[in-house]
Amino acid sequence: MPNAELEKLVETSDEWITSRTGIRERRIAGEKESTSDLAAKASVKAIENAGITAEEIDLIILASITPDYFMPSTACIVQTKIGATKAVCFDISAACSGFLYAIEIAQQFITSHTYNTILVIGADKLSSIVDWTDRNTCVLFGDGAGAAILRHRAQGHGVIATRMGSNGALADLLQVPGGGSACPIHPGNVHEKLNTIRMEGRETFKHAVTNMVESAKLVLDDAGLSPEDLACVIPHQANLRIISAVSERLGVPLDRVMVNLDRFGNTSAAAVAIALDEANRTGRMKVGDYVLLVVFGGGMTWASSVIQW
Ligand code: ACO
Repeated sequence: MPNAELEKLVETSDEWITSRTGIRERRIAGEKESTSDLAAKASVKAIENAGITAEEIDLIILASITPDYFMPSTACIVQTKIGATKAVCFDISAACSGFLYAIEIAQQFITSHTYNTILVIGADKLSSIVDWTDRNTCVLFGDGAGAAILRHRAQGHGVIATRMGSNGALADLLQVPGGGSACPIHPGNVHEKLNTIRMEGRETFKHAVTNMVESAKLVLDDAGLSPEDLACVIPHQANLRIISAVSERLGVPLDRVMVNLDRFGNTSAAAVAIALDEANRTGRMKVGDYVLLVVFGGGMTWASSVIQW
């Protein structure tokens, strides 16, 4: 869906969206496609790329704020769709930070030798919770999924260090206020569209930059690396202005920062996973390179990881 399509829905312009966000178009899933469909497609590709079979997967962790249902978990639905018959499955909710939170959970299970082969998925069909009459939010989001296989490797590969953070006191800045147990949707409030995304954009922007930069600096310290050591930075794809501010404050030139939000918009938990895949396929990192992943999202939540590719 190009920006021009949104001009027909709300009072906005391609110029406003491009200059304020960097987004030119986003992918919108079909009406009958659910988050698990996107997740299963990404998972099948990850399994192929890793050269394994679905039966080898011990654990599936799926990060999403748009699960197919409250119950069962979307991870369980994906399990059946891809035939990962022996996997343990669960979902996590950390909004746009979900993929990196899930990677860290997987890392803990791997280092504790609980599970050997783990499928981590970030998937969201945000179009299902967007208020298409709210120009403050509807221009920002897209649908997508990304997946990765994690497994024991020789030393010198994998997740070197991770820092995660949360601040529930700022929860109101970015939320879907209705549809859960605190505020069920019923005939009396259905017109209020409480099951759609609400965001205080300006405040969210400030916290995003501050926390992404702070956690990135901490994780680089933990890893004993400096910004010059990074072959590539893969940030959450919410807004080009956020990415530019983070790149400047970290001292990593923008040409070493992965940006694909112009084509996908903000796909929440999927964004960093999709960008990581694209960075890999386009040769932006070689085996042994240090890569920084840095995310921010509702909760508020944030995380940074240094990985050695
Ligand atoms: N088209 C035209 N005008 C618009 C639009 C639009 N689509 N949206 C807002 N405006 C108007 C506003 O109404 C406002 O008008 P006013 O000055 O007359 O009141 C003006 O543009 C400026 O609005 P701001 O909100 O100040 O615009 P800003 O420059 O902050 O950009 C944006 C807004 C893009 C939302 C930015 O604040 C942002 O990216 N915030 C962070 C988003 C983010 O990172 N979210 C976290 C992850 S999401 C997740 O976890 C699911």
